[in-house]
Amino acid sequence: MTATLKASRTKAAWVQEWAEVVAQTGDHDVYKLTLRAPEIARRAVAGQFVEVRPVAGRGSAAVDPLLRRPFSICEIRPDEGIITLIYRVVGRGTAVMASVTAGQELNVMGPLGHSFPDPATGRGMLVLVGGGLGIPPMVAAAARARAEAPDRCVTAILGARHVGFLAGAEELAATGVPAAIMTDDGSAGHQGFVTAPLKELLDAAGAGCEVWACGPEGMLMAVKELCRAAGAPCFVSVERHMACGFGACIGCTVPKSGEPGFWKACQDGPVFLAEEVELGG
Ligand code: FES
Repeated sequence: MTATLKASRTKAAWVQEWAEVVAQTGDHDVYKLTLRAPEIARRAVAGQFVEVRPVAGRGSAAVDPLLRRPFSICEIRPDEGIITLIYRVVGRGTAVMASVTAGQELNVMGPLGHSFPDPATGRGMLVLVGGGLGIPPMVAAAARARAEAPDRCVTAILGARHVGFLAGAEELAATGVPAAIMTDDGSAGHQGFVTAPLKELLDAAGAGCEVWACGPEGMLMAVKELCRAAGAPCFVSVERHMACGFGACIGCTVPKSGEPGFWKACQDGPVFLAEEVELGG
């Protein structure tokens, strides 16, 4: 990582671990996987991700599909050695993973990448913005903020196309952080986009807010612009195809902002200070 990346985030040494599947539940092609992965749970910090080989077991049959898939970590329970992941079935790898049942084992690498910053060192109201599959990492972020910055005002804005795609909203509510819910079709919460309540908050508190966001690139671009206009610090977690997860394949590049060159989302991110990345590039 170059010295220009200013975000104060955590990056721990990763491990490869055989994780026992404790439970898997699903609805609307969105699944929640609960894994017993003690070493990863002990090291992981909100915003980091894992790479999972989607097929269960240690035998030679357990190599197809071969490539691991990246998933942000939703919940981190180090005392129980538990992490949870929420994912949508989008192809063969995730379809195979959705068939895994309790008691089987998955090979997991992690924690990978950089976390969100330390909530105890930030200032002002912390606003967590999650869109679609960008909601799960905000669960871990909310839990960390509640645990490590109990006196800080923390609020969340969650959005999705439809109520069926709000996976992680219940887990976030369980952290005690209040959340405004927005859906494109009005099937839950208010109809509209996350940018509407975010703009209201920023209009009221401006630079007194710090914003962390994860979700579709268009949402991140809009959040970044609102924060820039308000003078509020903004951290974004970007989504990219991540074949290796540790900087070897160069398949996850993100253009740098204000200078030539690229970041590697897996290694330099996935959490970036918004002003340091060119979104939509
Ligand atoms: Fe391979 Fe980032 S995923 S370099």
